[in-house]
Amino acid sequence: MKALVYLGPANKALQERPKPEIAAPTDAIVRITKTTICGTDLHILKGDVPTCQPGRILGHEGVGVVDAVGSAVTAFKPGSRVLISCISACGKCLYCRKLMYSHCTTGGWILGNKIDGTQAEFVRIPHADTSLYPIPDGADEEALVMLSDILPTGFECGVLNGRIQPGSRVAIVGAGPIGLAALLTARLYSPAEIILIDLDDNRLDVAKRFGATATVNSADGNAMDAVMKMTGGLGVDTAIEAVGIPATFELCQQIIAPGGTIANIGVHGTKVDLHLESLWDRNITITTRLVDTVSTPMLLDIMRSRRIDPTPLITHRFKLDRILDAYDVFAHAARTQALKVIVEA
Ligand SMILES: NC(=O)c1ccc[n+]([C@@H]2O[C@H](COP(=O)([O-])OP(=O)(O)OC[C@H]3O[C@@H](n4cnc5c(N)ncnc54)[C@H](O)[C@@H]3O)[C@@H](O)[C@H]2O)c1
Ligand SMILES: [Zn+2]
Ligand SMILES: [Zn+2]
Repeated sequence: MKALVYLGPANKALQERPKPEIAAPTDAIVRITKTTICGTDLHILKGDVPTCQPGRILGHEGVGVVDAVGSAVTAFKPGSRVLISCISACGKCLYCRKLMYSHCTTGGWILGNKIDGTQAEFVRIPHADTSLYPIPDGADEEALVMLSDILPTGFECGVLNGRIQPGSRVAIVGAGPIGLAALLTARLYSPAEIILIDLDDNRLDVAKRFGATATVNSADGNAMDAVMKMTGGLGVDTAIEAVGIPATFELCQQIIAPGGTIANIGVHGTKVDLHLESLWDRNITITTRLVDTVSTPMLLDIMRSRRIDPTPLITHRFKLDRILDAYDVFAHAARTQALKVIVEA
C-alpha cells in the first residue's frame, strides 16, 4: 500500500509499505477514505516530537471503512464506516477511567507518532471499540475528518480548559485550524468578545467570517497594546495559545486579566519563560492538555444539528499519490491560503 513515511527531520517520502495486519484481538484494520495533515505533523518534521522515529507512517486523523477486526472487537465489523480518533483509548486503565484518554497506558496519542498512522491506504487501530466512532447516516465525511483532532482539541484544550463563560472576553493566539476550531466551539458559550491574533491576514479574514469580534495582526509587535485597548485596559478572561512558540505564550501572559485562564494548546519544542514576577499576584490559572477526545460524541451531535459547520476550514483536496504536494501547500499557508487539506486515499 502507499504511505507517507517520516524519514527524520525535514525528510519524508511516499513509499510502498505492507498492508497492516491485526496484531491484537482488540485491533481493527481500517481502509482510509479521507485523511488530512495536522500542524503537529509539521512539528514532527521539524524534529519537535522525539517519540516519533524515522520510518513512521504519519497521520492521526481520518475516516474510513473497517476492513478487518480482531476477535475481541464487538462494536464494529467489516464494512462499518468509521471516524478515527487521534487518541487511542483502552477504556479500562487508570487514566481512561478518569476520562483522560490522552494518557491511556496502552494508547493515547500513538497514531502517526509511536505506531503507524493514517496517511496511508490502510491503518491498524488498537482498542478499536473505544477508539473508533460509527459515522451517522448522511453525515458529510469531509466535515467529520475535522472531528478526529482539531474540533475536540480546540474545544477541550482551549474552550473547556479556558473556562469560557457567557459574556467573557477571549483572545485566541493563532488562527490556524486549531485556533479556528477553538473559535467555532467557543461561540457555543456566547462570550462577549473573541479576539483572534495571527500574522496572516487571510486567516484573520477567515476568523472574522467564523465570528471573531475583532482581529489583530501581530506582525508589528504591538498585539499586547491592541488587545489592551480593545478590552478597556483589562485584558482577557481567557487567552488560548494555539501556535506553540515562546512568543505567543508570552503574549498570552501579557494580555491575561486578573482571575483569567491561559489555556495552552500549542505543541512546544523549546522552553518558554513563565513571568511569575508579573503574574504571581494576578490569580491566574494556566492549563495544558493533550486532547482527550472525550467530547467527540457530543461534537458529533452538535455537527449533526448543524450548530457547527467546519467545512469552510477545508481549502484543498488531493489524492494520496499527491500527498507530497498536499504537504507543500499545507506548510506554505501564507502563500497558498491553505487551512485543512483533504487527502483522499
Ligand atoms: N494540545 C494538543 O492536543 C494539540 C492537538 C493538535 C494540535 N496541537 C498544536 O496546536 C498548534 C496549532 O495547530 P494548527 O494546526 O492550527 O497549526 P498552524 O501552524 O496551522 O497554525 C498556527 C498559526 O499561528 C500563526 N502564528 C505563527 N507565529 C505567530 C506569532 N508569532 N504570532 C501570532 N500568530 C502566529 C500562524 O500564522 C498560523 O496561522 C500547533 O502547535 C499544534 O501542534 C496541539
Ligand atoms: Zn493533530
Ligand atoms: Zn486506557
